[in-house]
Amino acid sequence: MQRILTGDRPTGPLHLGHYVGSLRNRVKLQNQYETYIIVADIQALTTHWETPELIRTNVREVTLDNIAAGLDPEKVSIFVQSMVPQIAELTVLFGLYTSVSRLKHNPTIKTEAKQYGFTDMTYGFLGYPVSQAADILFCRANLVPVGEDQLPHVEVTRFVARRFNELYGEVFPEPRAMVSEISRLIGLDGNTKMSKSLGNAIYLKDDPAEIKKKVMSAVTDPARIHKTDPGHPEICTIFAYHKAFNSSEVPEIESSCRKGTIGCVACKKNLIGRLEETLAPIRERRARFDKPGVVEDILFEGTKRAIKAGEETMGMAREAMHTDYWKES
Ligand code: TRP
Repeated sequence: MQRILTGDRPTGPLHLGHYVGSLRNRVKLQNQYETYIIVADIQALTTHWETPELIRTNVREVTLDNIAAGLDPEKVSIFVQSMVPQIAELTVLFGLYTSVSRLKHNPTIKTEAKQYGFTDMTYGFLGYPVSQAADILFCRANLVPVGEDQLPHVEVTRFVARRFNELYGEVFPEPRAMVSEISRLIGLDGNTKMSKSLGNAIYLKDDPAEIKKKVMSAVTDPARIHKTDPGHPEICTIFAYHKAFNSSEVPEIESSCRKGTIGCVACKKNLIGRLEETLAPIRERRARFDKPGVVEDILFEGTKRAIKAGEETMGMAREAMHTDYWKES
């Protein structure tokens, strides 16, 4: 069976942008692939090294978000990055032949550096895509379902795997990225990306009242002052959400918006109903698993399985690199 590796940074609770970009795909694919989900605490610390307590709290939150979204902890291994030592070991090995200029040209790194105001980037931040390559390759994954902002990182991973194999012998598959059709969700404020730091997100754990409030105050087409004004769905936040959560009604909504026969309030109310169809079962599952010790046990078991895969890979990598010094034979 082929393997999937994907995951999240535990910097805060997951939102609809994560759901559309990656979670929804993970849930769909979990039966066809052996699936590993990383809770990337070390990667989170490359931007949040001053607040490790915050990251620790969110390791539990993000794990719960993944399970609530529909991942089956019996089938899928959800694990904590920092508890799998082979990921750290591989990061060091992959850094041997990955140049600094390759890392400096990574567009996602550039965007994030700007966003966080990093003028003098740390070694750890600049190098996190190498560490992400280790996240993916420690279990020799074949497929990486991610949002489009992660494509440069998967490219680094493919380079790392290919080059390792050329230099030392065939150990790693060259994993493929899988980007969902709608891979980025616009924010409630009309900003191009839904994100926690922009404060424009609907969270998987939001209750119905919060969701209603957020949707009703979301930005729509500013040209529509009266209900009968013709609208421009292509620039409307709510229409983008209909595309992601209500695809069957999209043609009808599009034409009635353009004609001015449906008002923004009605259109928003319809959307709230569709969002509830997705979010109500997620909320139920969350409540079922949100009990003392349950998430902790799931992470413990998942991490054990990850370490086992990591040990196997590390054995192969050591042999290929001639660093298997006192292997018993
Ligand atoms: N960089 C990813 C994000 O910001 C999280 C992540 C860490 C990841 N390691 C990964 C994603 C490995 C896919 C594969 O969302």
